[in-house]
Amino acid sequence: MPLSVPDPAWASEYAAERGISLRELTTVHVGGVARWLVRPRDALATAYLLRDLARCETGWRVLGGGSNLLVADGEVGPVVVHMSALQTVEAVGDEVIFGAGVALQRAVNQSTDEGLAGAEVLTGIPGQMGGALAMNAGGRYGAMADVVRWAEVALPSGELARISAADLRFGYRSTFLPEGAAVTRVAWRLKPTEDRSALKRRAGGILKEKNAAQPTQAWNFGCMFKNPPGQSAGKLIEAAGLKGRQEGMARISPRHGNFIENLGEARALDILTLMELCESGVLLGAGIRLEREVRVWPGLSPA
Ligand code: EPU
Repeated sequence: MPLSVPDPAWASEYAAERGISLRELTTVHVGGVARWLVRPRDALATAYLLRDLARCETGWRVLGGGSNLLVADGEVGPVVVHMSALQTVEAVGDEVIFGAGVALQRAVNQSTDEGLAGAEVLTGIPGQMGGALAMNAGGRYGAMADVVRWAEVALPSGELARISAADLRFGYRSTFLPEGAAVTRVAWRLKPTEDRSALKRRAGGILKEKNAAQPTQAWNFGCMFKNPPGQSAGKLIEAAGLKGRQEGMARISPRHGNFIENLGEARALDILTLMELCESGVLLGAGIRLEREVRVWPGLSPA
């Protein structure tokens, strides 16, 4: 008889689940299962969970909307902390404060519906508030940095800390966050406007542009790579002759070179192979080293 190992104390305290498929929790619809997955119910529960995991030296990965994430096909451990239950939206003075699990598009829609200007530039960006903050998500017309006033994070010490926009040190698709932190809330400052229909027209126009240029109907990550200074990653991948290249059920989009499409049952390694092909093709062709937006869980290497 094999000895059965008892579940760790945090597992029952935080209703951790075993073997949850991560595929459906990513926008590219690829990936295996989480050894343990926990969905903390609020900010304080997140802080206590991180403290308890840190105390028993159990590592964790934080999952938001799963839009810039490539998950390996096997088991991912030790613990995935999924922020989807943090769904609060509060208006306090001139701030709107969102839970980390609120879908970015929902926050954008709600703001434009209420005549609050500034967030419409984020129309059509996938993901949730926490991940969008952590990556300073954005597009041609603006980024999270333009509207964020502060963020609250849960720390491995078990505390919640508020970090001002200045201390978040936003860069192009980057934010400074303390080691091991999970974003729990994000505060936006928006401008009240009388002309709601102008806001909606602007948001509609941005969405139309995206639908024309990007494969928005296919499962994808959004952009795979950051744009190198003064260059377009999509254009460089196209110039390397890689648009439309397929590996298994994964394909570099024929519409936009910086997108990978999952045509159905793509494996993580198919996607990784295509990403590396883009990196080597652009390095050889243009002498430019592409930098990834997509993060890979855990370290995957092509077969
Ligand atoms: N282009 C090509 N071939 C391609 C793709 C693009 O020649 O395969 C050309 C386009 O014709 C255009 C230029 O490259 O002249 C730039 O392309 P595009 O306007 O599509 O924008 P992008 O720079 O590729 C950026 C953001 C997107 C965002 C769009 C629109 C990055 C890495 N990309 O894309 O953000 O949606 O602008 O606002 O910052 C993301 O970050 O996940 C993302 C999708």
